[in-house]
Amino acid sequence: MRSEVEKIEKEALEAAEGASDLEEVKALRARYLGRKGVLTVFLRKIPGLPSEERPEAGRLANQTKEKLEEALKRAARDIEADLAESSRETLDVTLPGRPPAMGRLHPITQTTYAICEIFQRLGFETVEGPDVELDYYNFEALNIPRDHPARDMQDTFYISENTVLRTHTSPIQVRVMESQPPPVCIIAPGKAYRVDSDVSHTPMFHQVEGLMVQEGVSFGDLKGILTTFVHQIFDEETSLRFRPSFFPFTEPSAEVDIRCVICRGKGCRVCSHTGWLEVIGAGMVHPAVFEMVGYDTDRYTGFAFGMGIERIAMLKYGIEDIRKFYENDIRFLRQF
Ligand code: PHE
Repeated sequence: MRSEVEKIEKEALEAAEGASDLEEVKALRARYLGRKGVLTVFLRKIPGLPSEERPEAGRLANQTKEKLEEALKRAARDIEADLAESSRETLDVTLPGRPPAMGRLHPITQTTYAICEIFQRLGFETVEGPDVELDYYNFEALNIPRDHPARDMQDTFYISENTVLRTHTSPIQVRVMESQPPPVCIIAPGKAYRVDSDVSHTPMFHQVEGLMVQEGVSFGDLKGILTTFVHQIFDEETSLRFRPSFFPFTEPSAEVDIRCVICRGKGCRVCSHTGWLEVIGAGMVHPAVFEMVGYDTDRYTGFAFGMGIERIAMLKYGIEDIRKFYENDIRFLRQF
């Protein structure tokens, strides 16, 4: 008798626990506790038992009934809670949408555009050239001799014996002149690569190259164009000075300094207490370069210049470490 009740209880409780919907709970209630339910039938049999077994049987059966009642209630409650939970997850079409995060241009791209725009207004056309460049365009045609230190593996990334990652944007000058007769008036922004890495150098950086070739182009034109550029990219108060310098592909050559935009010439850490910042390399195109591209050196003259875009951006925005541009720290990039 005891084992019979225990068996019913075990089976019924397991079934209640496993019930997955309210229909099933209802069916279980009928099966065990209904008028013809297993437990009801058992209870009904008690009066027929020998008198000494009756109290014990009654107690057990009633206990089981209570437990089962409890288990079925709990099952129904759990199922209802699950239903409420899943209906809460359904899509509420009346909620406002999440706006997509807006991207923005990298500060170097912004600076490149700002520089190119100024020159475009001055009549320069923007062109590009390949990053992987032939030794010929990067060095040879720019009058950079075989034994020039710039050709050293220490400075140049070689792809093969006669292919390099361009070390400056100057090869674009040659490509443009090779492809068209004068007049030429172009600027060429792009990446350049050098084996170099510290607070002011990254192995990949950006330059803008400028080239103007025509009859009668003079050093005075170069000064005028660069002065206008500096006044527009910084401000009218920023003065320039042209220092004699050397580049194999220009003669005469100059390095262009601007009055320190941080301390206005008083001397500070950024300008190494000189009051001046070197920002542009420039000069009159060397006749040897014209000869390489077949331009008539008696008829044409031209000027060329090149500047580092990171350097301009650092000065414009007051950034002290060039590596910040390439760490992809969103908190840094969001400021521009
Ligand atoms: N290519 C030179 C450099 O990378 C800059 C330059 C360009 C100088 C054009 C003169 C004329 O330093």
